[in-house]
Amino acid sequence: MKLAVLPGDGVGPEVTDAAVRVLEAALEHRGLPLDLVTRPVGWAAVQSHGTPLPDPTLEACRQADAVLLGAVGHPGAADAPPHLRPEAGLLGLRRALGCWANLRPVRVPDALLDASALRPERVRGTDLLVVRELGGGLYYGEPRGDDGHRAWNTLTYDRDEVRRIAELAFRLAAQRRGRVTSIDKANVLETSRLWRRVVEEESHAHPDVTLDSMLVDRAAMELVLHPTRFDVILTSNLMGDILSDQAAGLVGSLGALGSASLGGTTDLYEPVHGSAPEIAGTGRANPMGALASVSLMLRTTVDLPAVADDVDAAVEACLGDGIRTDDLAAGGRPPVGTDAFTAAVVERLGGGA
Ligand code: IPM
Ligand code: MG
Repeated sequence: MKLAVLPGDGVGPEVTDAAVRVLEAALEHRGLPLDLVTRPVGWAAVQSHGTPLPDPTLEACRQADAVLLGAVGHPGAADAPPHLRPEAGLLGLRRALGCWANLRPVRVPDALLDASALRPERVRGTDLLVVRELGGGLYYGEPRGDDGHRAWNTLTYDRDEVRRIAELAFRLAAQRRGRVTSIDKANVLETSRLWRRVVEEESHAHPDVTLDSMLVDRAAMELVLHPTRFDVILTSNLMGDILSDQAAGLVGSLGALGSASLGGTTDLYEPVHGSAPEIAGTGRANPMGALASVSLMLRTTVDLPAVADDVDAAVEACLGDGIRTDDLAAGGRPPVGTDAFTAAVVERLGGGA
């Protein structure tokens, strides 16, 4: 397996480091080799190469089976021109690789019930998958600009963009609990009315899956009131960005979620969290998001579900043993740092050998 690692900014290097340690150990455990290159992205790349997505980085990604990205974003970039913002590196990478589907699983394990923002009886059993359209929408629409007095962005979707993400959501729902909730703002936006029509058309090809369409404001409330009602959430780029952070609150920390960005020439795996500059370098970052991304990679790109199971089981065993970083700490044992959490996961790989 050929992996390109793009640590990026802030806590990115700490969590990708942890993920690589666990991945190497999990593969080694089963006698599988890993071929790895590390390249800069984001603000780190602006510093070293003068651009957030240098050509050699993109080239390494294109030659890899999968890309693992840490995080991008830096407080020092606040006044940088748009093309030198760290986020432009990530958005440019998603676009250059052609990744148009972003999968963000959100599961609340019993061991984390006390860390959730919600009462345990409300959140227990939450197991949903956000299927976020990643290649279009408000993030990429033209025209866009800012003349100092007025700023503008454009929201467009065409039928093909909606159909392909809807088709994927229905297919994934068929392998889960058979329910898609498509989230839009069809009472106000033309793009949402098209979205809703195309999703409803596509649903006819998937009679085994139930479809609900829901307005995004109501969905934001339902996610907090009845999180267990959701199975697959299908939504646009910006709404998916927002709702997946909200869903992370169900687990208790943004640090816990991983994601897979698919559909392009190379699959891209990224934790859902950002660069968390306030804790960068302190050794306190939660590597669970990066580890969840590695597990998704093992399941999706390289078809090693047994190794993915090893990783997931090792993480769950740590949580069960009360080993947590301080974003998830709640009473009980004192929190551990990134390093100790990672070591504890490695120790538990392959059934705690
Ligand atoms: C995410 C992040 C990115 C996004 C940023 C860093 C550009 O928030 O992956 O959720 O908005 O897609
Ligand atoms: Mg986000």
